[in-house]
Amino acid sequence: MHEVVRLRRLRISPAIRSMVRETDLRPSRFLYPVFVREGEGIREPLNSLPGVERVSVDVLVNDVAPRAEELGVAGLLVFGIPSVKDELGSMAYSREGIVQRAVRALRASGYRGVIATDVCLCQYTSHGHCGVVRNGKVVNDETLELLARTAVSHAEAGADVVAPSAMMDHQVAAIRRALDREGYTDTLIMSYSAKFASSLYGPFREAAGSAPAFGDRSTYQMDPANAREAVREVELDVAEGADIVMVKPALFYLDVIAEVRRRFNVPIAAYHVSGEYAMIRAAGRLGWLNDLQVELEALMAIRRAGADVIITYSALEVAELLRGGR
Ligand code: PBG
Ligand code: ZN
Repeated sequence: MHEVVRLRRLRISPAIRSMVRETDLRPSRFLYPVFVREGEGIREPLNSLPGVERVSVDVLVNDVAPRAEELGVAGLLVFGIPSVKDELGSMAYSREGIVQRAVRALRASGYRGVIATDVCLCQYTSHGHCGVVRNGKVVNDETLELLARTAVSHAEAGADVVAPSAMMDHQVAAIRRALDREGYTDTLIMSYSAKFASSLYGPFREAAGSAPAFGDRSTYQMDPANAREAVREVELDVAEGADIVMVKPALFYLDVIAEVRRRFNVPIAAYHVSGEYAMIRAAGRLGWLNDLQVELEALMAIRRAGADVIITYSALEVAELLRGGR
């Protein structure tokens, strides 16, 4: 009887294909990472991240944010490039820090997208680690207080979502407690729950100036070999009050996204990281493939694996492509 079944009938025309498509890709699922620095009128292109720039607050507010909003991109994930660093990363939690000022300016501009902020210390510390260093070690519990202060300062500036990425144990609980104590009960936490110690962060570290000065991040970020442990990380973050959990990187960890989707009912974000983006773009520049089409396929794969939200440097370009009906 199987000869009556013809699956090609489901592919017979664009209209039929679009009607039965299982997974959709919309800009309302995208968060666009932005790198904000000091200065005015600045758009500094990044060598390792073609198409991505470090921008000053005025450019962010007057150009980048309106463009993202107009394209229907869900929101921005704000990263700060401070002009000074110190041992304890104090510009991460200063009221006058670059992220705090950028968020206040975005708020004041009437930008209607989601304002999310990265909460970590590595761009702000002189040693480039994500936490406080004592005797050459990244110490957990002392770091929690600084991460909580950072998150509160972002909420105070007007962030909708704070996204802790330091991979310290109990960072979500510490941040939730501090936010609630200060009255920011409506601020969401999107936790970088399963963040792997990946070599795919290289271009980002160049962009953000956040490479560790000694050692690596493998005592706090996860071993790429561990999928079961990723489930434990997510479990803990959900218990501590994370509103959205994240898997990062995305493409090399689709199995982890799928497993988290199967086991939890919380929204899942996936970070299509700088190295994934750079590889695809580089091959495009060499003329080896159509990079924008490959990006579309990559984002579709991340959605198909089960991610609700995708953080991607291609957000604006892909949104434009989708608007054109691809
Ligand atoms: C910092 C941070 C990193 C990324 C996001 N937040 C780098 C790191 O952990 O070294 C990576 C993003 C990317 O590669 O696109 N905690
Ligand atoms: Zn960090």
